[in-house]
Amino acid sequence: MSRIAYVNGRYLPLAEAQVRVEDRGFQFGDGVYEVVYIHRGRFLDEDRHLDRLHRSLGELRIDWPVKREVLGGILREVVSRNRLRGAALAYIQITRGAARREHVFPPPTSPTLVVTARALPPYPRDPDSWATRIITGPDQRWARCDIKSVNLLPNVLAKQAAREAGAFEMAMIDSDGMVTECASSNIWIVDASGHLRTRALGHEILPGCTRGALAALLGDEKLTLSETAFSLDELRGAREVFITSATSFVRPITAIDGAPVADGAVGPVTRKLFSAFARHAKGDLPNEV
Ligand SMILES: Cc1ncc(COP(=O)(O)O)c(C=O)c1O
Repeated sequence: MSRIAYVNGRYLPLAEAQVRVEDRGFQFGDGVYEVVYIHRGRFLDEDRHLDRLHRSLGELRIDWPVKREVLGGILREVVSRNRLRGAALAYIQITRGAARREHVFPPPTSPTLVVTARALPPYPRDPDSWATRIITGPDQRWARCDIKSVNLLPNVLAKQAAREAGAFEMAMIDSDGMVTECASSNIWIVDASGHLRTRALGHEILPGCTRGALAALLGDEKLTLSETAFSLDELRGAREVFITSATSFVRPITAIDGAPVADGAVGPVTRKLFSAFARHAKGDLPNEV
């Protein structure tokens, strides 16, 4: 069965789904996006994602292409038309629309809305097999990383560098030697003193929906979070490291730049948070997909 995409009011086979050559997303990267995890038809942290989409659009002064409730309906229709009954991902892309190429905002245009979805492998069973490695490198992005823009070139290069080094992600380091986040995930540590830390929200990082959802679960786990930036040295000296995103969930990091994190095994806090987030992701639904 061919995959179905939604483009500006139409549901089309993926191969026929198109945006215009003068779309500002293509010409300038003038657009925003969201990625939402779906577990058996349930959109995880949907409100957080749509709130962040609203904020990204507002920061770039792009209008909502359809009402928020309508977008919710389109998401469900795309999932249904693609017969995605298990674990899946939905992508929403909104650009400022198509107009004669000029940097300045064009006269009012209709924003472009694209929604696609695809199946994902089943939710990871255990944190040990889900653990992975990262490398570190300079953060080469712009000064508004809090906007989930489709401009992802530095992230693409960082992720490619990681892949070529046999790692999954790159932790990016700012000009002060402090860790911002990874190319497509937020990063957390249990520092050498045992404090759970992740960088505070600001223009330097994306306000991850998984970060927010996990932070809201910490009270139940009797854990407190310190939202303070940590240095590359602190990252290297951490007892535990993990990353969060809509596709990584809580993913343990057991090696950095080829050196083990602590003893190289998944630590107790990461283990606990992996389980807490798995419960959150699966809701009341039994078993894995
Ligand atoms: C740069 C960056 N940071 C963090 C995240 C994690 O955000 P979320 O948890 O909403 O997926 C992402 C996700 O794509 C990202 O691209």
